[in-house]
Amino acid sequence: MNILMVASEMTPFVKTGGLADVAGSLSREMEKRGHNIKAVLPYYRTIKDGNFQVKPLGQRLKIKMPDKVVEGRIMKGRIGANIEVWFIKNDHYYDREGLYGTAKGDYADNAERFIFFCRATLESLKETSFEPDIIHCHDWQTGLIPVYLNTLFKDDPRFAGIRTVFTIHNVAYQGIFPPSEMPLTGLGWDLFTPEGIEFYGKINLMKGGIVYSDILTTVSKNYARQIQTGEYGCGLEGLLKARQKDLYGILNGVDYDEWDPEKDRFIIKNYSRRTPGGKKDCKSSLLKEFRLEPAPEAPLFGLVSRLAEQKGIDLIADTIDEISSLGNLVILGKGDESYENMVAHLIEKHPQKVGVRIGFDEALAHRIVAGSDLFLVPSRYEPCGLNVMHSLKYGTIPIVRATGGPDDIISEFNPDTGKGNGFKFYDYSKEEFCSKLKIAATLYREKKLWRKLVQNALSCDFGWKEPAREYEKLYRKAQGRRRGTGAGFPPLQE
Ligand code: ADP
Ligand code: GLC
Repeated sequence: MNILMVASEMTPFVKTGGLADVAGSLSREMEKRGHNIKAVLPYYRTIKDGNFQVKPLGQRLKIKMPDKVVEGRIMKGRIGANIEVWFIKNDHYYDREGLYGTAKGDYADNAERFIFFCRATLESLKETSFEPDIIHCHDWQTGLIPVYLNTLFKDDPRFAGIRTVFTIHNVAYQGIFPPSEMPLTGLGWDLFTPEGIEFYGKINLMKGGIVYSDILTTVSKNYARQIQTGEYGCGLEGLLKARQKDLYGILNGVDYDEWDPEKDRFIIKNYSRRTPGGKKDCKSSLLKEFRLEPAPEAPLFGLVSRLAEQKGIDLIADTIDEISSLGNLVILGKGDESYENMVAHLIEKHPQKVGVRIGFDEALAHRIVAGSDLFLVPSRYEPCGLNVMHSLKYGTIPIVRATGGPDDIISEFNPDTGKGNGFKFYDYSKEEFCSKLKIAATLYREKKLWRKLVQNALSCDFGWKEPAREYEKLYRKAQGRRRGTGAGFPPLQE
């Protein structure tokens, strides 16, 4: 199949979170399965400044906006030998410090930036001879692509064979903008209705993707259930329920070429399930790196996270005294200013026990995942949680809140049967979190049981093989659909 993968971030080029891992590794896995993959993403400053070989492709793109024509260019790069990547270049939109904004908030023109991205992606197909069978769109930044295929480009024979799959990585980020931005979309006001992209008087780009795509997916089975409820659906639960028969939960895979302690290039000593000894060296080196007291007998807790409301950072702040009484804690994170400040303050109270780095640092993320004994994921909600699967591969035991993906991935360790791969707590409360921390820290001192738990974690396999097979099945299902059946909100069905 010819597959066009469209996302706002993708490894190895640019990353703020798990979306980048998934867009990149799913592309590579599909290519391994024999498909012809092209990928599209914005040409951000970090890519421009990075060491990637790119060159211009085709003619200049010219996109009509209400009172101007906006020009762009396609820059061609590669992943490996066989995957061509098209970067949409427009320096005014993408040559900036951040992808979506700064620690103080989102860029004010995000609607325009990503409307342009969607339109330019489809225009770029005209500049190349690539005829996708499937366009796989990820998250709100790509939500208008399925809309355009069913409206502006409906009668264009070049696009007639294309079917769409839309993956929701996080339903809390929907791309909601004031109606004054509607003309930028180039769509008629007839789409500004509850059956179209209108949402409580505003425009909702993710809603566009959900209404108009042929197949919908999200990143765990549990999250697929959760987003159909008022508690987790962020206002889209009704629509998602209406499209239930086209909505699939596929747990993400992990790229074990990148995340494997046996060959990890960022850690001080490699180790594996058969030779787990090197983990000790990773721990003592991590303690040293953060200038914490050497304490091999006390558990080291680790946390690597986007610093956003979703991630339960306030629970860490509320329990910092208890965590410090049980062991040491190292944190790496970047995100909202308020959470960056919250985390930075934790050191002041416990300078010998807590280490914090604010920033995005891939190598340090690997060293924390490898060197910690326990990995904290106290999220309010978590669609998949790649971090949880990464830590299992490194024998670092996750303590997770039982929600979304983490609830699917983790089964509670039972000391009597020796089964299970981590710890989970249910209520988003200090009491429940603390009680789980204590249980984990106690077990850490029972050497034999702990070794068993670590072995269980190291034996887990969350590779891409199975998820990629499932995506392939869904691509075929989408291909079999009649054109336009993606307009799935009941009032739109013919
Ligand atoms: P999310 O996508 O919600 O951020 P995931 O756990 O699915 O959560 O994926 C996060 C990914 O981003 C992981 O690969 C993690 O290692 C990485 N990551 C998050 N924050 C940082 C950071 N500050 N520095 C380096 N890597 C980070
Ligand atoms: C989102 C989610 C995270 C998921 C990632 C990749 O950022 O917050 O849970 O793992 O997307 O799908």
